[in-house]
Amino acid sequence: MQSRVVPLEEGKDPGGVSRTNQSKALPLRLLQLFVLFLAVCITFSVISMYTIRRFGIYSVGNAFKSTFQPCFEVPASLGQWVRPPSNLMHTMNDQELLWRASFVPRIRTYPFNRVPKIAFMFLTKGPLPLAPLWERFLNGHEGLYSIYVHSLPSFEPKFPTSSVFYGRHIPSQISEWGRMSMCDAERRLLANALLDVSNEWFILLSESCIPLYNFSVIYQYIKNSRYSFMGAFDDPGPYGRGRYNMNMAPEVNITQWRKGSQWFEVNRRLAINIVEDTKFYPKFEQFCRPACYVDEHYFPTMLNIQAGNMLANRSITWVDWSRGGAHPATFGGADITEEFFKRILEGRRCSYNNRNSTICFLFGRKFAPSALEPLLHLAPKVLGY
Ligand SMILES: *[C@@H]1O[C@H](CO)[C@@H](O)[C@H](O)[C@H]1NC(C)=O
Ligand SMILES: *[C@@H]1O[C@H](CO)[C@@H](O)[C@H](O)[C@H]1NC(C)=O
Ligand SMILES: *[C@@H]1O[C@H](CO)[C@@H](O)[C@H](O)[C@H]1NC(C)=O
Ligand SMILES: *[C@@H]1O[C@H](CO)[C@@H](O)[C@H](O)[C@H]1NC(C)=O
Repeated sequence: MQSRVVPLEEGKDPGGVSRTNQSKALPLRLLQLFVLFLAVCITFSVISMYTIRRFGIYSVGNAFKSTFQPCFEVPASLGQWVRPPSNLMHTMNDQELLWRASFVPRIRTYPFNRVPKIAFMFLTKGPLPLAPLWERFLNGHEGLYSIYVHSLPSFEPKFPTSSVFYGRHIPSQISEWGRMSMCDAERRLLANALLDVSNEWFILLSESCIPLYNFSVIYQYIKNSRYSFMGAFDDPGPYGRGRYNMNMAPEVNITQWRKGSQWFEVNRRLAINIVEDTKFYPKFEQFCRPACYVDEHYFPTMLNIQAGNMLANRSITWVDWSRGGAHPATFGGADITEEFFKRILEGRRCSYNNRNSTICFLFGRKFAPSALEPLLHLAPKVLGY
């Protein structure tokens, strides 16, 4: 390029060059430039055709598209709609994000091979002390899961590029327990996860959660379940119906009021119900404030009204309330024994697809950072990973 540009500039500079000389030289140089331009275009066409044929629609490089748009138009391909976002750190605000995430295809069968994935959504303050256990649990199951992490906006994640958590933090905001800002964070996680069309099931987890079975067992259990697990139930007491506010009528009637587990599992259809909601949100925001804890009531009540027959009415996340008080028990290193897991996993019975099942809880909480080492030690024998 350089050698061709220089003569053009030289021709401009000396004052004595006649006009006829310039006008003859210019079309020739333009022609040279044009031929060069054409060669570049053809080269890139050939490269991109080769890339498409070789790697399919999924890997048509973004770089080609943005840099060479003026040169030739990349034909609009399905890839741009089915490829997950390459960078989770977008610049959309919540209103824009929820709107974008509410897009739904109207044709049920996908015109490509869609392998449904589980989206593991971590709602945390920041660090994930049990990350090494999750890394081991997920190892070898690439393509069947995605990870999303919501943390305090000030938190700076420091995962190595080899980690499954690397680059999986979403744009986050401060959220307070029992307040609408907590539901906002959960909707933000769901909305980000919905942007990947392959995500079919969405599981909300905290930093103290662990998987109680290996990946294959959990994937099949979720995949084959006819219901989503919201843990929604009708509690007639002061902490259930007692928190209902009559101002929520007519959108919400007291008979529809539900209490549920914050650590839910929902399928894609219910996840969309949650992100698209503008009907119940204002009612809960205005009339469910402490001592009404909105994160225990908003999604379970809303989904009970809209899709009650799709809910399993139980949770898949085990927690121990037996010690009493306002918070469930936390387990540290000294608690982690084979007997402990026998107690959690064995002798259970619950309803799964309207049948009795002995596998009831897929995840457990709350586990302290000190539980990590004994968990890594026991997991192969007791948890199957
Ligand atoms: C997962 O666990 C189940 C039941 O414990 C076992 O049958 C299966 O072989 C395990 N799968 C893998 C990949 O380890
Ligand atoms: C709530 O719904 C039930 C049945 O759908 C109905 O019988 C009852 O009158 C409703 N209550 C109010 C306060 O609207
Ligand atoms: C869960 O409860 C709702 C009513 O609250 C009911 O419609 C639904 O059938 C129940 N689901 C199962 C699986 O029993
Ligand atoms: C499930 O177990 C209960 C006892 O816990 C029993 O009464 C019921 O018949 C069982 N249902 C099925 C479908 O096996």
